[in-house]
Amino acid sequence: MNDTTINAAIAYIHELFQGNSGGHDAAHSLRVYCSAMRIAEREPDCDRNIVALAALLHDADDHKLFHTQNNANARSFLRQRETDPETIERICQAINSVSFSQNRDRCPDTLEGKIVQDADRLDAIGAIGIARAFAYGGEQGRMLDSSIEHFHEKLLLLKDKMNTEAARQMAESRHRFLEQFLKEYIEETTVRAF
Ligand code: ADP
Ligand code: NI
Repeated sequence: MNDTTINAAIAYIHELFQGNSGGHDAAHSLRVYCSAMRIAEREPDCDRNIVALAALLHDADDHKLFHTQNNANARSFLRQRETDPETIERICQAINSVSFSQNRDRCPDTLEGKIVQDADRLDAIGAIGIARAFAYGGEQGRMLDSSIEHFHEKLLLLKDKMNTEAARQMAESRHRFLEQFLKEYIEETTVRAF
């Protein structure tokens, strides 16, 4: 793997996500990259270069933030780095199979897509997942309880949807933390006679 390209991708996402906060920012892409590389260590058949670049660029054309077509941001970065066309296609294919909202429950076709999807899902659970859910809800002007609903609709289901064994293991403590948080939240917000 070429470290210069990875460093350039990190610089590119910082530039791209400038001014964004909460759900989708450069820090999210960096965390997804780190988790994806940890999962990749346990998946010897994967192409680590594809995993790394797909993870770093997975939100570069997210429809909620950018009005690009056909992975234009990711492609423009990769072309600048003189990536060969076949590799660009493989990275874009992995990126496009990741999103929960776009693909609902469809499982990615490639191992690299599966790894990046797992890493993205890990970032939606645990302490960071809780922080992101309230940040997202706040951005949309939602009440706290509306973000709590999102826990039940999506977040609590994620641990059983992991594609890889490594991610399933990484999800366990994060899932327990969500449950613990919800229990405490209900306890503290239930109005009782005093
Ligand atoms: P993806 O881009 O992978 O499809 P989303 O854009 O759906 O993911 O979610 C980005 C972040 O915002 C996640 O942490 C997710 O849990 C959170 N989020 C998405 N929808 C809601 C919602 N309705 N309420 C609270 N948080 C949400
Ligand atoms: Ni993401």
